Amino acid sequence: MQFKKYLPLTLSALCLVASSLAAQAEETIKVGVVAAFSGPFADYGKQIEGGIKAYMHQYGDKVAGKKIEIIIKDTTGPAPDVAKRLAQELVIRDKVDFLAGFGLTPEALAVAPIAEQAKKPMIIMNAATSIITTKSNYIARFSMTLPQVSGPMATWAIKNNIKKVVTLVADYGPGIDAETAFKTNFVGGGGSITESIRVPLRNPEFAPYIQRIKDAKPEAVFIFVPAGEQGVAFMKGYRERGLAEAGIKVIATGDLTDDHVLPAMGDATLGVITTFHYSAAHNSPENKAFLKNFAEANPGTGRANFMAVAAYDGMAAIYEVSKKLNGKIDGDKVMAILKGLKMMSPRGPIMIDPATRDIIQTVYVRKVEKVGGELFNVEFDKFLDMKDTGK
Ligand code: PHB
Repeated sequence: MQFKKYLPLTLSALCLVASSLAAQAEETIKVGVVAAFSGPFADYGKQIEGGIKAYMHQYGDKVAGKKIEIIIKDTTGPAPDVAKRLAQELVIRDKVDFLAGFGLTPEALAVAPIAEQAKKPMIIMNAATSIITTKSNYIARFSMTLPQVSGPMATWAIKNNIKKVVTLVADYGPGIDAETAFKTNFVGGGGSITESIRVPLRNPEFAPYIQRIKDAKPEAVFIFVPAGEQGVAFMKGYRERGLAEAGIKVIATGDLTDDHVLPAMGDATLGVITTFHYSAAHNSPENKAFLKNFAEANPGTGRANFMAVAAYDGMAAIYEVSKKLNGKIDGDKVMAILKGLKMMSPRGPIMIDPATRDIIQTVYVRKVEKVGGELFNVEFDKFLDMKDTGK
């Protein structure tokens, strides 16, 4: 009796829930974020999520009348297979409109075929091996490429009378790109590279390599290691083995003196020269607003780094295309808008190259200095409108 009485009510209640769920789905633009949030590269996910939160804190969570929904997936990486499975879930089960994140090259490469097959725009917020954007027509990169930032380091070194260098890079895509681009400009400019050292991506033990560098007696060592703890470990070894006293300078891509870990790197880092697209010390109103919003949206996270900026800019692009498409997201239409898109980033002006979907931006030369008692990468020279040179 009771059951009968309630059945029609229950059914109509169910219908109500179902239709409101459908309406909700229609009113949402979903962004699936794939990155490492645990394991040795956990900071990458945190910086990327931090940049996304900073943007949404500043501009709100609605665009074109729709709510932006962020779905976070932890690869625990580097774990390309996990990244691929998570991206598949995001596309099939969660029905995301955008794939985003990607701190590590192997994970971005593993997901590229899914973006291609599902026609989902894939917004790269860090992974920086040149070749990535060639792996799907649905990829656009808002971070950097290693050739883009490494070539200028060699050009600067030659101009500043550094003629003999040892290179040390992480032995995977971005490291090999960095080594190649540095070598091209350095040897092309009349310099010589006496040794090229490649170190494992996972847990490199730097001490023996640092001794090799000391024995080779170069004027400088050029470094690319993935941002974070590895830079801290390298600089510790550099200090302990007395390389500065032996007259060996450090030149590097800005991954080494990543803003997030720089305050913990100590005074041995003073004077290190790097080339990069972003410094927390960049003096612009856009950067001030970014840093303020990052701090407010991410209390206790520490200093924002380049990954947070790329994520913030990637979100700006997602908002821009969503606005232009009036909230109706279509992969091909999104890509048509992203090609040639120009924006003012906290790092300076950026543009997505319509031919390659890679970023065009200023690459700055910086020196580690103390500002207000804290270590910063202080910009003192720049290379304008740099494209990726690795393809
Ligand atoms: C990458 O895996 O592409 C990568 C990781 C860390 C960096 C730069 C590039 O600092």
